Amino acid sequence: MSELLLKNARIVDPVRNIDEVGDIAIADGVIVDAAALKSPEVIDLTGKVLSPGFIDVHVHLRQPGNTNAETIASGTAAAAAGGFTSIVAMPNTSPSADTAGAIEYIRQIADAQGVVKVLPCGNMTKGGKGEEMAGIGSLKNAGVVALSDDGKCIQDHGLMRHVVEYAKSFDLPILDHCEESTLAAGGVMNEGKWSVLLGMNGIPGASEELIIARNIIFAREINWKIHMQHVSTRDSVDMIRRARAKGIPVTGEATPHHLSLTDECVKKFDTNYKMNPPLRSEDDRQALIEGIADGTITVIATDHAPHTQTAKLVEFDHAPFGIIGLETALPVCFTQLVVPGIISIPQLIAKLTAGPAEVLGVKDYSLAIGNAADITVFDPEAEYVIDKNTFRSKARNTPFDGMKVRGKINLTVVDGKIVYREGC
Ligand code: DOR
Ligand code: ZN
Repeated sequence: MSELLLKNARIVDPVRNIDEVGDIAIADGVIVDAAALKSPEVIDLTGKVLSPGFIDVHVHLRQPGNTNAETIASGTAAAAAGGFTSIVAMPNTSPSADTAGAIEYIRQIADAQGVVKVLPCGNMTKGGKGEEMAGIGSLKNAGVVALSDDGKCIQDHGLMRHVVEYAKSFDLPILDHCEESTLAAGGVMNEGKWSVLLGMNGIPGASEELIIARNIIFAREINWKIHMQHVSTRDSVDMIRRARAKGIPVTGEATPHHLSLTDECVKKFDTNYKMNPPLRSEDDRQALIEGIADGTITVIATDHAPHTQTAKLVEFDHAPFGIIGLETALPVCFTQLVVPGIISIPQLIAKLTAGPAEVLGVKDYSLAIGNAADITVFDPEAEYVIDKNTFRSKARNTPFDGMKVRGKINLTVVDGKIVYREGC
């Protein structure tokens, strides 16, 4: 029987509204009463923060199809190093995760080689092409936790409405990449002052906002959950705020990069500032922060999007969209949001635990006795410089290399097993 006693940590458990110094006992993969332990391994966590394991609802693992950029093994190792114990794997692999067979394949590799829990997400449409609905019932039977065509967005509103109805009947949340494609076509960065100055084609905020408006209408009409991925503009945040106030079942996520960077960064012509949706204006960034602070945005997700160096080392116009994020999420968000006093440590933890759990329909994602021992520990005082060469990810496409940050992951535990340990 494997036993672990995590002592003297600041335990933050948002679902149960707990924030107190104490111990967490683990036996056989679950949280138990400390009195039940016989001869546990003891780890002293004085000064460290302990919480339920972080959940990232937006991760690209690239397997099958682009294992030069990432694999399920390397991506889950990166997740563990970032404090994530569960990650939702986006279906835009090659082939797409649009059939039961594809989901079964991912689950087998994840079981054999994954170090954290891989929760597969299935496509809404065949091949993510937005033309024909995928076999949603068989995806559900194969074990998907959600549906998404991330990377793309269903443009046919009739088809989308039909998908939302099916998703509801199979009890699957929709995670939508909100992008109207005629407005976004040909764009490589945010449409605004900087795209004009740099002479680059812009992607207007309206491209995202049109689809967010559509999704709010369908969520209300069908009364089903639609989660807006990587929300990036002020008007998107405003619409989600108003919809939630009316009780419409929509949620939104913000990425660490949209919370910390703006389109001005593109003047460096570094393709590690190219992602979709693009970095927006400072006003949009402030609106996202307001949405995080007032509870409109309940989820922080990374959109971890690995690309090889060869793919990214081209002119800005030609580079693929996307940056990695699993190993920088906690320090970037801690530094940007907690250090300046915008949100508290429990609020940040909620965006990485209870918020994503709620999107997935997981009840009681907490440290209650009897629950799976999925746990994250970090040091809120540790200051250091991000070094991409230390990453577990195969990819290096990050804009955060060299950034001075505070907040360091020390321990990641999945089902009672230590999958990452550093400095404790
Ligand atoms: O920047 C992005 N990269 N945005 C997406 O929506 C897809 C992702 C990818 O798969 O590379
Ligand atoms: Zn996306």
